[in-house]
Amino acid sequence: MITGKICGTGSYVPPHVMDNDDMAKLVDTNDEWIRERTGIARRHVAKEETTSYMAGQAALRAVEQSGIAPEEIDMILVATSSSETIYPCAACEVQRMIGAVNAAGYDLNAACTGFVLGFNAAQAYISAGMCRTVLVVGAESMSHMIDWTDRSTCILFGDGAGAVLLRAEEDGAPVWTAAHSDGKKGPALTGLSRHRRDWNLEEEDKEAYIHMDGQAVFKFAVRKVPEIIEEILEKSGVSADEIDYFILHQANRRIIEAVAKRLKTDISRFPMNLEEYANTSAATVPILLDEMNRKGMFHEGQKLIVAGFGAGLTWAGCLFEW
Ligand code: UT7
Repeated sequence: MITGKICGTGSYVPPHVMDNDDMAKLVDTNDEWIRERTGIARRHVAKEETTSYMAGQAALRAVEQSGIAPEEIDMILVATSSSETIYPCAACEVQRMIGAVNAAGYDLNAACTGFVLGFNAAQAYISAGMCRTVLVVGAESMSHMIDWTDRSTCILFGDGAGAVLLRAEEDGAPVWTAAHSDGKKGPALTGLSRHRRDWNLEEEDKEAYIHMDGQAVFKFAVRKVPEIIEEILEKSGVSADEIDYFILHQANRRIIEAVAKRLKTDISRFPMNLEEYANTSAATVPILLDEMNRKGMFHEGQKLIVAGFGAGLTWAGCLFEW
């Protein structure tokens, strides 16, 4: 079977950092509350950097690491819900920035689940023989989507981008995917287009920003993420013990701990970096993959599960081998 193998990873986060004490200057919060309830200590916030710029930087690093010529890339998928432009799409901007002149590209929006859905789509393109080399990017400027006066949301998010380059491998290791949505639960987590915000909305038009029923999303994640991981394990015939790392969307340390507990799996196999970056939505999983890769934590043949969840509501996962 032809499946996609990761041959390069990259990430980019803006240099400007806001720690929890900085947040406490903006809203009625404190470092202790944020750390205890979320595990977050800092977030990187874009100043001049746009979503496409960050996506392009992450992509450049992934391509450079892979040693593959940009001309060989067939497809670019950018998962984002916070691109500064609707057209051109961020994927076409990335194409221009990295010189992937032979690639097709488009953006996809499934909020925090976007990267994992993009990864699954890339695997499908490769397995179907439609593409050989696919770049998947998750990139977000969450700082443009949040109400900086709302303490229940503004402390949670950060900006950044991550990218992986997948290359077709004949007789590749099997890849197992699953994905779900529940549109009826959409109101639990909403955000209007950034462009609405730019129409100089009146102060009272707060609905334009991200709104979230935090507890509902928390319960959803703690139930649905273990369920989808179990669904993938059952499909594949692989046991949880055989998985080297569960690389989950980095929204809240307590969610990740609860998932590990439900799966009766040691938390050491659930890497986290949300302390440094907070929730960068579609970018969390590829940023973490890139960090782990550059630290040398991955070895040929290791079994990994990636899983995302978020607005829609949406959730998705994939089991693949390094
Ligand atoms: O990418 C997917 C998107 N989102 C998520 O995954 C988020 C899922 N949800 C969560 O992570 C958690 O629900 C939150 C971190 C958002 C909130 O944690 P919680 O333990 O569910 O707190 P809560 O909403 O029940 O609020 C507890 C208290 C409230 O005060 P009272 O009513 O008990 O007096 C809040 O007003 O904490 C208060 N509070 C804060 N206090 C200090 C809410 N935000 C803050 C804050 N600082 N930033």
